Amino acid sequence: YRVDKGNHRHFMAKEIHEQPEVVGRTLAHYIDMARGQVVLQEALPFDFARLSRLSITACGTAYYAGLVAKYWFETLARLPVEIDVASETRYREPPLERDGLTLVISQSGETADTLASLRYAKSQGQHTLAVVNVPTSTIARESSAVMPTFAGPEIGVASTKAFSCQLTVLLCLALAAGRARGVLDAEHERAIVDALITAPGLMAEAIKMEAEVEGLSREIAKARDVLYLGRGTSYPMALEGALKLKEISYIHAEGYAAGELKHGPIALIDESVPVIVIAPHDAIFEKTVSNMQEVAARGGRIILVGDARGAAAGLDTLATLTMPDVDPVIAPIVYAVPIQLIAYHTAVFMGKDVDQPRNLAKSVTVE
Ligand code: G6P
Repeated sequence: YRVDKGNHRHFMAKEIHEQPEVVGRTLAHYIDMARGQVVLQEALPFDFARLSRLSITACGTAYYAGLVAKYWFETLARLPVEIDVASETRYREPPLERDGLTLVISQSGETADTLASLRYAKSQGQHTLAVVNVPTSTIARESSAVMPTFAGPEIGVASTKAFSCQLTVLLCLALAAGRARGVLDAEHERAIVDALITAPGLMAEAIKMEAEVEGLSREIAKARDVLYLGRGTSYPMALEGALKLKEISYIHAEGYAAGELKHGPIALIDESVPVIVIAPHDAIFEKTVSNMQEVAARGGRIILVGDARGAAAGLDTLATLTMPDVDPVIAPIVYAVPIQLIAYHTAVFMGKDVDQPRNLAKSVTVE
């Protein structure tokens, strides 16, 4: 790896653009293309079939990757998942079954709260599995098994390529768990693997929307508050979109489950609050559409991030970012791109230091 900006203005831009390549590299490690199957290179010290629950813990963007994975493990492997931010897990001291499994996710492998939660899980006799980007890190060393991401060095403080690689590994793990638990047959697994290997190409397509996102960012930059909405796996993506935007542009942003809008945030909606809706064409798309109608009816300015079918839904939007059609299972991996580009271009337009945002550290090794 060349750890320089190449011909990009910022590391963050370079890292966003690298995603088709590093997600492809990560897939090459976890997928047997010929057999259309996930292969885990490392033997696991536990059996997914015998688990009654999976506990996930992480911080920041890695936590949102875990929140997406909760949906995958539940639907593809029928494995109950509990997840919390590591700063809570470590002091909650949740009851954990002996021989159960704790999954920790960390780009750096050095985050103090995540490490403390890992150590707590071990003290309870749990197996531990780490999804990390730095294989020599403390978290990698102390976990009973390691599933590496192949994002390469990530320099920008706001995580981008590490996140999409975490999602990629987590989906592969969910597929392996689904097979082990007898939930996914070979045909179903192959169908999802076939979809997964289209992710790098689709991410490259999404990156082509950059000029359009840049134009839109000038509108977002005027806002004091921004709402991000989504359902299903797009709900954690809405949380991640809001986190990215606030981290580097310092605009107040909130992610919400679209169906929860009526229980509070709808009160905030007026023409000054852009509402960014993450809405790939999935099984709950129509539900999200009705939430968008509620926003439009109150004068809200919707920015729809969806595909051509969303664009054709006749919604009253300020703008639509038309994404390529994606299999809904892999949507989070591909939709990571527009949410990163929105945050990046908004912050650049506002003249913020995107690679080194104020008050934030790349790796939080103290409490
Ligand atoms: C910091 C970084 C975030 C990152 C989080 C967790 O807050 O600014 O980008 O998501 O730590 O870091 P980790 O290395 O454990 O993934």
